[in-house]
Amino acid sequence: MPTTLTVNGTAQTVDLPADMPLLWVLREGLNLTGTKFGCGIASCGACTVHMNGEAVRSCQVPLSDAAGAEIVTIEGLGNPAALHAVQAAWVAAQVAQCGFCQSGQIMQAAALLTTTPDPTDADIDTAMEGNLCRCGTYPRIRAAVKDAANRLKGV
Ligand code: FES
Ligand code: FES
Repeated sequence: MPTTLTVNGTAQTVDLPADMPLLWVLREGLNLTGTKFGCGIASCGACTVHMNGEAVRSCQVPLSDAAGAEIVTIEGLGNPAALHAVQAAWVAAQVAQCGFCQSGQIMQAAALLTTTPDPTDADIDTAMEGNLCRCGTYPRIRAAVKDAANRLKGV
């Protein structure tokens, strides 16, 4: 049965299995390949998107649970002409190495800053600990989150 959800501000109706993980709905059904598959078992964070404003692991969300939801992916967080503050901070700090984990990192960080606009190191470490980076960009991630917080505050 077709399922309707909103992705990056646009209503989408997909005719895919109700138990298909949202990650594959996005990647295969809607060709939004910025969201990555890392582990498939909620252990890496590469697949992080926002669902109704909260960071979720899209590999763990069946399509049926996303029906009617507002989904935002890395493609919808900002755009090249108007980067989200987190994206701008990431660019300024040159956080990415191979880049594979980074859309998930950015989506996780953006969700953190909506609830915690002035995060401490401990807040950042707690929020980001489930997002793994095999390239070890963690120090730059922490610095970029702080920069993004300042950008959002207009500092
Ligand atoms: S692919 Fe979803 S947490 Fe790793
Ligand atoms: S930048 Fe390579 S895995 Fe994080």
